[in-house]
Amino acid sequence: MPRNIIIDTDPGQDDAVAILLALASPDEIEVLGITAVAGNVPLPLTAKNARIVCELAGRTDVPVFAGCEAPIARKLVTAEHVHGRTGLDGPDLPDPTMSLQDTHAVDFIIDTLRAQPPGTVTLCPLGPLTNIATAFTRAPDIVSRVQEIVLMGGAYFEVGNITPAAEFNIYVDPEAADIVFGSGAPLVVMPLDVTHKALVTKARNDAFRALGTPVGIAVAQMTDFFERFDKEKYGSEGAPLHDPCVTAYLLRPDLFSGRHINVEIETTSDLTLGMTVADWWRVTDRAPNALFIGQLDAQGFFDLLTERLARL
Ligand code: BDR
Ligand code: CA
Repeated sequence: MPRNIIIDTDPGQDDAVAILLALASPDEIEVLGITAVAGNVPLPLTAKNARIVCELAGRTDVPVFAGCEAPIARKLVTAEHVHGRTGLDGPDLPDPTMSLQDTHAVDFIIDTLRAQPPGTVTLCPLGPLTNIATAFTRAPDIVSRVQEIVLMGGAYFEVGNITPAAEFNIYVDPEAADIVFGSGAPLVVMPLDVTHKALVTKARNDAFRALGTPVGIAVAQMTDFFERFDKEKYGSEGAPLHDPCVTAYLLRPDLFSGRHINVEIETTSDLTLGMTVADWWRVTDRAPNALFIGQLDAQGFFDLLTERLARL
């Protein structure tokens, strides 16, 4: 039986690859819906990009919902400096023809968790946690029905990418992150500590391109664009595929390892706003609330990704 998931996302080139990996794996993953949130770029663009990705995968049957256009308590911060003006700069992909669903993403999340048997829906947030936190606040009864939340966000040893202390997804909506991390739902967290190990080297990108398919070529062009930021900033060899760590974990959890620890979100300090304060060394008696991933079999990850993208 495939695992039912909702992908909550702000595409983003790496979000796009995460979605493609899920859509390429129908035996293991059933994507019930894709919910767009404001993040890398404003909501109209993330909702559009999610549909562009579905169409690239030939999956116009997957419903796409637009969600929250601004964080719970703050002004939206975006990341065009990383992802380009459209959020999906790189390949030249056509505008989507499939339409957005009429239902708001938050209502879709609530309705789906209430309609499906308890413990059978996994949430996969790849952007700021605004939609998920809004759903949890509005319908607290759904929290105990969530099978697991597997999300990309935060950092501990790698600290920040948008500020010295904070990772982008958590920084954009720290109040939302605080709600989700404090919700009691089982959490698996892919912080920068692991996603910076999912680096697209030239050989790995050549392997995507060599697939010779529209998907393989588009993914290669996305990472070509997206890598310039990390090359300049970190001197790294290529682009880190942050968000695909989430969908790869669903397929091959054995490629990842981490610690079950306490993670709290800083919501008040100006200096460290949005920091994920991870008790990696277990120096407090705060109760563990997350499996915080640190290690990745990077070659196994890229072999899986290339093999799956070839199926689309
Ligand atoms: C996260 O922020 C976004 O720029 C990426 O899509 C990823 O979800 C990395 O910090
Ligand atoms: Ca993202």
